[in-house]
Amino acid sequence: MRVAVVGAGTMGQGIAAVLAAAGHEVTVVDTADRLPGSLARIASRQPAPPSPVSGTPELADAVASAALVIEAVPEDLGLKLGVLAAISAATGPDAIIATNTSSLPLDRLATAVVHPERFLAAHFFHPAETIPGVEVARAEQTGQHAVDEVLRVLSAAGKEPIEVAACVGFVANRLQLALFQEALACVEEGVITPADLDAVVRRTMGVRLPAYGPFAVADMAGLDVYRSILTVLHEQYGDRFAVPERITAMVEAGRLGAKAGAGFFEYADADQLAVRRDAVYRRILGAVT
Ligand SMILES: NC(=O)c1ccc[n+]([C@@H]2O[C@H](COP(=O)([O-])OP(=O)(O)OC[C@H]3O[C@@H](n4cnc5c(N)ncnc54)[C@H](O)[C@@H]3O)[C@@H](O)[C@H]2O)c1
Repeated sequence: MRVAVVGAGTMGQGIAAVLAAAGHEVTVVDTADRLPGSLARIASRQPAPPSPVSGTPELADAVASAALVIEAVPEDLGLKLGVLAAISAATGPDAIIATNTSSLPLDRLATAVVHPERFLAAHFFHPAETIPGVEVARAEQTGQHAVDEVLRVLSAAGKEPIEVAACVGFVANRLQLALFQEALACVEEGVITPADLDAVVRRTMGVRLPAYGPFAVADMAGLDVYRSILTVLHEQYGDRFAVPERITAMVEAGRLGAKAGAGFFEYADADQLAVRRDAVYRRILGAVT
């Protein structure tokens, strides 16, 4: 497939590298002064593509015959609207156009695209050639064909795309930035230094997260335990820690998590789960220490 990546900076380089390594014919678009450096960095990324990525400063040339165009210019609404309009004007009507935006509203960006049923978000994570997850989000008018095709291309390239509903910041950035805000609050309050806070994250919850997300971790801790902790934190820190109604309802219904056989997920054997979990944590620790 012919792919054009518009904006060959931090993200565009990684996206170009991963799609070229999957056998696609990739052209990147950037300013003439930036292109040589971008192409050199793409060539040095792993895994090495079977054929080299090409580059041009001429957007229309690059996107005219592309079946998929990925926009990865800086996070500026006006800039992205202009670039998406130019892409849309220069591609065939069937070409799929994906934005790598981190936070801009998709429906607003979609206004720049003619035939918006082919427009969606494919939100990669840095470094794009290494991090498996890609959030795929549809704007209101995005067609199923565009979603299916992007999911197929990403999966075939070794990525693990995850569909999310379009919302500002999607999911990963909302989580990441919420953690960052609280981390910074701890530092500002003089509770800990940035280096020690990073150590707390790496050596506690960070050991779990490659294997278990927040819902699985909550189920393993016990939702009754979470409710108790949140009650105390709420008193001290205010509404951002208020016990969610859903947690109260689940606790009252006996869905306490793994130990009760059900929480957010169902559990046949909590003891077996604990044995598997501990083995996974030891492997993770072995891989990072
Ligand atoms: N950096 C990250 O960790 C990260 C992660 C996920 C998503 N994103 C998103 O990816 C997008 C790109 O971010 P980045 O970090 O790669 O930015 P960057 O500044 O590293 O790269 C952007 C590139 O776009 C080029 N560019 C600017 N205007 C252009 C135009 N009109 N035509 C062609 N190229 C143009 C720039 O010269 C630059 O090389 C943003 O929307 C950002 O929010 C970034």
